[in-house]
Amino acid sequence: MTDVAVIGAGTMGHALALVFALGGHMVRLTDSNPETLRRAPALMQTAVETLAEAGEVDAAWKENGIGQFVRCCDTLAETVAGAAIVVEAIIERQDAKHTLYEQLDRLMGPDAILASNTSNLDIFPLVPEARQKNTMVAHWYTPPYLCDLVDLCPGPRTDPAIVETIRGTVAAMGKVPVVFKKMVQGYVANRIQAAIGLEVFRLLDEGVVTAKDIDDSVIHGLALRMPILGIIAKADFTGLALMQQGLANRSYTPPPVTGRSEALDHLMDQGRSGVMVGKGFFDWGDRTPEELFRERDRKLLKLKQALRAIGPMEGT
Ligand SMILES: NC(=O)c1ccc[n+]([C@@H]2O[C@H](COP(=O)([O-])OP(=O)(O)OC[C@H]3O[C@@H](n4cnc5c(N)ncnc54)[C@H](O)[C@@H]3O)[C@@H](O)[C@H]2O)c1
Repeated sequence: MTDVAVIGAGTMGHALALVFALGGHMVRLTDSNPETLRRAPALMQTAVETLAEAGEVDAAWKENGIGQFVRCCDTLAETVAGAAIVVEAIIERQDAKHTLYEQLDRLMGPDAILASNTSNLDIFPLVPEARQKNTMVAHWYTPPYLCDLVDLCPGPRTDPAIVETIRGTVAAMGKVPVVFKKMVQGYVANRIQAAIGLEVFRLLDEGVVTAKDIDDSVIHGLALRMPILGIIAKADFTGLALMQQGLANRSYTPPPVTGRSEALDHLMDQGRSGVMVGKGFFDWGDRTPEELFRERDRKLLKLKQALRAIGPMEGT
């Protein structure tokens, strides 16, 4: 059992606190926004109840709750004191992360590991010199209590031993760590997702199809085969000759990287930022985030359990 501090209790932070607690660790959680911290226990409880209901965790978790294993703390100092692993899951802003790393450097023990959940930032230039060897990226996917992939990236001066410690910790929690030889922004899954995103936002901005059409195309076309074949095994099934011809014949150019999308900017201007506010591309009605997460999680769990029973293709 390790003492784990999770900094940031938003979409990822509260869920990461839950993952470490379910993995047998003692967790302290904090957020600079008291309202976000106040909401975290209910979100964790909803998730743990959904997991218990599906038989993924012992029913005792549902009955006893997670309060014994995750303590919400008002201050950074209280959260970090004595922690062996500090998980950074605050907003994706360079200045905020830089300030936090300076604060953490003063509060963390000399051997404590700093593991950032950053999606896109090269955090290593933001980390004080003395912390470099104990800092790495451990990047999770949402919701991390259901998605098992964890990208582990060392920085240029990260001690390989801490990567191994985090790899072992993550694997012991039943997760699937992928260790990168060096930091690569976007990792693998996010790079693929970003490439898809470029096409999706181009098609939306050009008014070719609706948001629903995009999701229908993915759910009923692209996605069905992916859980069994991934991308690479699917290429073998398609036949590599067709893959080769597809590359040669393509008559449209990939979307330019403009860094913005009109469709997205328009929704954000209207305050439609996603399920946390009840609307984004879709209108999610007056259901709370807890209710929406519960429905998503129940469905993902059924899929995950079915996939576990089906198993991967032999030979991959
Ligand atoms: N949302 C995702 O699907 C996802 C997936 C993988 C990685 N990430 C990464 O995880 C991190 C968090 O993302 P999120 O989606 O949970 O964001 P979020 O906006 O939901 O939560 C971030 C939280 O950090 C808090 N915060 C900001 N500064 C702080 C500070 N100095 N100390 C303590 N708390 C602070 C904010 O109040 C907020 O509640 C980001 O680096 C993001 O790139 C997100």
